[in-house]
Amino acid sequence: MSDTWWKAAVIYQIYPSSFKDTNGDGWGDLPGIISKVDYLKNLGVDILWISPIYKSPQADMGYDIADYKLIDPIYGTNEDIDVLVAELKKRDMKLMMDLVVNHTSNEHAWFVDSISSKSSPKRSWYIWKDPAGSDSNGDPLPPNNWCQLLGDANSAWTYDPESKQFYLSLFTPEQPDLNWETPEVRAAVHDAMRFWLDKGVCGYRMDVINLISKDQRFPDAPVTNDGGKAKYHPGSKWYTNGPRMHEFLREVKREVLAPYKAVTVGEMPGVSDPDEVLKTVHQGDGELSMIFIFDVVDVDFVPGEGRLALRPFKTGDWVKDVVKWQRVMWERDGWNSVFIENHDNPRSVSRYCDDSDEWREKGAKLLALMQTTLSGTIFVYQGEEIGVRNMPKYWDGVLDKKARDHARTPMHWDGSPHGGFCGKDVKPWMRVMDDYVTFNVDVQTNSNSDDDLSIWQYWQRGLSNRKAHADAFVHGEFQSVDNAEGDDVFAYLKVGKESGTWVIVLNFSGDEVQWRMPSNVKVQGWVAGNYLKGKPDKPTEGTIGLRPFEGLLGRSAA
Ligand code: GLC
Ligand code: CA
Repeated sequence: MSDTWWKAAVIYQIYPSSFKDTNGDGWGDLPGIISKVDYLKNLGVDILWISPIYKSPQADMGYDIADYKLIDPIYGTNEDIDVLVAELKKRDMKLMMDLVVNHTSNEHAWFVDSISSKSSPKRSWYIWKDPAGSDSNGDPLPPNNWCQLLGDANSAWTYDPESKQFYLSLFTPEQPDLNWETPEVRAAVHDAMRFWLDKGVCGYRMDVINLISKDQRFPDAPVTNDGGKAKYHPGSKWYTNGPRMHEFLREVKREVLAPYKAVTVGEMPGVSDPDEVLKTVHQGDGELSMIFIFDVVDVDFVPGEGRLALRPFKTGDWVKDVVKWQRVMWERDGWNSVFIENHDNPRSVSRYCDDSDEWREKGAKLLALMQTTLSGTIFVYQGEEIGVRNMPKYWDGVLDKKARDHARTPMHWDGSPHGGFCGKDVKPWMRVMDDYVTFNVDVQTNSNSDDDLSIWQYWQRGLSNRKAHADAFVHGEFQSVDNAEGDDVFAYLKVGKESGTWVIVLNFSGDEVQWRMPSNVKVQGWVAGNYLKGKPDKPTEGTIGLRPFEGLLGRSAA
């Protein structure tokens, strides 16, 4: 197997609590994942990445780890991992674990020790500071004005009345930040990583890995929140890709990743400078295999506002970021990850297309066509392959379009009660969406229409084509095509060394569009679209009528 086998791999993200319950507690588990390995193989998946399943009080759904070497009993046992790895291996597949080492749970033994006394040998494993003074009520003031990342009305510092010091907790008070300045912390992280690599996992998705190095002066954040009126503000500039981050990652690479040839994808929010990104993902001397860049999913971001900001956006606003990173990685020997969904973001068909009953199917296929033809390593998020949409507005109190819960509803396996996620008399930890009755894996994998594919079948075919022509779709050069008609049509070429040049045209609007093909694009013939199973019957030059959310894949005449 070549050292870069993972580039053309299809990675599928499992949100384990919502995937498949087998023991009747309403919570997904490892035996449930094991029971679906054939399903995933059939879809075309090579690597499963499972969101955290380690021992955890679940203050942040497992992103608060209490023991790095133990599977939480709610998911199963360490032996289940051995079984899963073995079952995957039989099918030529692999497992990727989620590594959360910017912080631990406050119930991790390291933190329990650290908070026990100022003289604890683990005191320096976390970030402890004296108060900055006290307010008019005599209450201690946090060391600086940083806000929490998951609740920006709160301070990022949590007070411990016993020792009269604060600890840094960027996400929630239950997630104290580890102090990477302490060499023993880094050694302990390396050790935890080796533990699962020794069990045969192929690598890690590394949670908020670009936050591990904090500016040791801990300066105040610029005053931006709530027009400057808030008490606390985002301190990101003092800990995003901080002063020692590259050094720490190079150490991880040398000590752990290189000897195991591990595959890594770093979660790196808030970074969009190519020079900076290349230090991490350069394929010669970069630190990690690839990272998640959030320009596209953060398209409605408003500086100084929290993660629920909703700036209205046009297709062109995020397409420009896709184009930018496709070109940067090609020109500078970096490597992309290709994704638009994960467990922290709304469903893509709801966000970038139209999730109404009328258009959902076309939109989901359009997004599949785009992703399966972009260069990089592709990630499919649980449920994306059947076009799961956001929860309805009135439902379960989720009012917000960007609530993380949209991506966390249980999987729709079939038309039985609770969508087959759990037994019919079991109460699932989160309600299953009502449309499971008609919108599920069973219906979509067995669909048998002469003229159209289900969303699932469309993904399956797209992933298989992607591998068959990996020279163009995975590794090829991306070239933009001028889009004379404005923002709604995203068109590009993919140039392969063996399979030649391909043309992709995607109409992201809900209207018919007359798209004028630029004169430098020559289409020999259309080979696939998202309106029917067979070859689209469309002109190959001049003006092409595109129906709402219609996408076309063609071969270019050299
Ligand atoms: C990442 C995870 C998110 C979690 C946070 C803190 O952004 O994807 O779910 O809340 O890190 O670990
Ligand atoms: Ca269970």
